[in-house]
Amino acid sequence: MSRRYPFPSYPNGWFAVGLSGDLPAGGSLTCRAFGQELVLFRTEAGAAFALDAYCPHLGAHLGRGGRVCGDSFRCPLHGFRYDGQGHCVGTSQGGPAVAGLRIGTWPLRERNGLLLVWHHAEGRPPQWEVPVLDAAEWSAMRVERVDVRTHPQEVTENSIDLTHFSELHGYEAVRVVDPPSLDGPCLRAAFASSRSVESLGTAGRAEFVFRVEVWGLGYVCVEAVDSVFGVRSRQFALATPLDDERVTLRLAASIVRFADPALTERILGLFFRGFISDLRQDIPIWENKRYVEAPALTRAEGILGAYRHWARQFYSAPGDAAATA
Ligand code: FES
Ligand SMILES: [Fe+2]
Repeated sequence: MSRRYPFPSYPNGWFAVGLSGDLPAGGSLTCRAFGQELVLFRTEAGAAFALDAYCPHLGAHLGRGGRVCGDSFRCPLHGFRYDGQGHCVGTSQGGPAVAGLRIGTWPLRERNGLLLVWHHAEGRPPQWEVPVLDAAEWSAMRVERVDVRTHPQEVTENSIDLTHFSELHGYEAVRVVDPPSLDGPCLRAAFASSRSVESLGTAGRAEFVFRVEVWGLGYVCVEAVDSVFGVRSRQFALATPLDDERVTLRLAASIVRFADPALTERILGLFFRGFISDLRQDIPIWENKRYVEAPALTRAEGILGAYRHWARQFYSAPGDAAATA
């Protein structure tokens, strides 16, 4: 259980551990999440897998010198090889596999340019999937990564906390377009707002409609359409538990491409800067706030109560095997 929150540090669901582009064919990467080390690898044929980092033979870290070997990953110390399902498929110098020897694995999906791993406190297989978004007209993503002392539930709550958009971020005339709908692991809502576009290097105001789609507590996707300039943007806020205290927050954005690639890059850069500067305002709030279990919500904030109720589905009940972080 988290020390700051009355729920576990590690919710169940899909969480980002990188971008698909971080993992080339024949390559690997190490990441830390859920208080553990993971090693991801991609075969030359393009299939990607996630393993526990430590070899069950004598404990070497696979990410420190291990390598892709055909369809398997080879430990740097004695050459034991493990396939994507974690089975030992061979030992050093082509020796036979050790029967029954396995390394832990993590369900991995590539969705919308992201590498997502499934975490479940009781070890259950994936119960739902993050949908694939259309990619045809969209630019490559810009990404920034920062470790923040908070919990994924706080980051996700922020995306539907309407009143803070004006108070903290300076949006004006914030209003609900589609009231939030809670559908299994998915939460959808749409808001509208106007905002100065000085940060885009031009005078005037833009009118935005934001469509928020949340899957679990680690995946927030906001598609914004600006009716004045005609820019369509997609912003991801992806909070992955790093350990009991911190999340790794990945902020990624893309826009629908313009005919001119240079213009696409320039507008994307400006949008990304605006997105990052909003998040830079949120981060010190998250790092210093305390979690109020019975908040004094105004009538306009009823969604936050509904959100917290919805969020409970992503925690194993106290007392379930390994349910606490
Ligand atoms: S520690 Fe990995 S093969 Fe020996
Ligand atoms: Fe915010």
